[in-house]
Amino acid sequence: MTPEEEEAIRREFEASRQAGHEQTQQQHQGPEMFQVNALSNVKHVIGVVSGKGGVGKSLVTGILATELMRAGKSVGILDADITGPSIPKMFGIGNERLTAMGEHLILPANTVTGIKVVSTNLILEHESDPVLWRGPMLMGVLKQFYEDVAWGELDYLLVDMPPGTGDVALTVFQSIPVEGVVIVSSPQDLVQMVVGKAVNMAAMMDVPVVGLVENMSYYVCPNCGERHEPFGPSRAEETAKHFGIDMLGRLPIDPAIAALCDQGTIERDLPEHLLDEALDIIAPVDAE
Ligand SMILES: Nc1ncnc2c1ncn2[C@@H]1O[C@H](COP(=O)(O)OP(=O)(O)O)[C@@H](O)[C@H]1O
Ligand SMILES: [Mg+2]
Repeated sequence: MTPEEEEAIRREFEASRQAGHEQTQQQHQGPEMFQVNALSNVKHVIGVVSGKGGVGKSLVTGILATELMRAGKSVGILDADITGPSIPKMFGIGNERLTAMGEHLILPANTVTGIKVVSTNLILEHESDPVLWRGPMLMGVLKQFYEDVAWGELDYLLVDMPPGTGDVALTVFQSIPVEGVVIVSSPQDLVQMVVGKAVNMAAMMDVPVVGLVENMSYYVCPNCGERHEPFGPSRAEETAKHFGIDMLGRLPIDPAIAALCDQGTIERDLPEHLLDEALDIIAPVDAE
């Protein structure tokens, strides 16, 4: 090897080392924070999470939004379950579409009572089209939903998170100023393990946990009025204690609730006071 060749190899090595170093530095700087636009003033961002899918995360988001609205707050929902959006249908606005204002501004859809909603379902040609997007596209949509939407004045922006601990959930935590998360579980989960995942994710992301909602916790027999626990006695209380988090309530399995979600009449027909404890913590009456 000639001295020139040796020198060339050394330079190449140094250059690649430098590139690696810069990349590491970038990683340490962390991902970018999304910036809200001048037409949005969001006071509190609350995420609704679960360790896995199908436990009622979207239902809890819908209930919290409805109850906050009934309590006189201004509310928005960012449906961050980009590949499995179900918020628009629940509010009966599945057929509406988001409108663009100019090149970079998106107007949210409005529910009957005025909850502002942004969801991939509202940009697809047909409500039932599958979302077949890869990671970068999902991140791009999430960024637009936060940065480019004219949210206006919001007391609460609820983020219906994708299930589990994937890319989009991580980006929500790292790029949106989430003030706290509500964890939803169902009793047939291996409760402690699944709730533990959500608790640990929040801890790793430095986001406080508001508390735990146990969905499908019990069933009230319509004939005899007796309360049954088809999945066995609830361990939610014990689980919440184990992780040092607050218990925010238990929701029954209720075919009437499933029906009003399907019909899109949650705001009109939802029974009152389903998640009072959660409301007390999220929107304490004496806070304003
Ligand atoms: N407590 C409940 N009683 C009756 N049906 C429920 C209840 N919770 C959820 N469901 C139904 O189960 C399905 C899944 O709930 P959803 O909130 O979409 O779950 P996730 O968002 O966690 O995937 C929906 O069809 C919903 O209407
Ligand atoms: Mg959902």
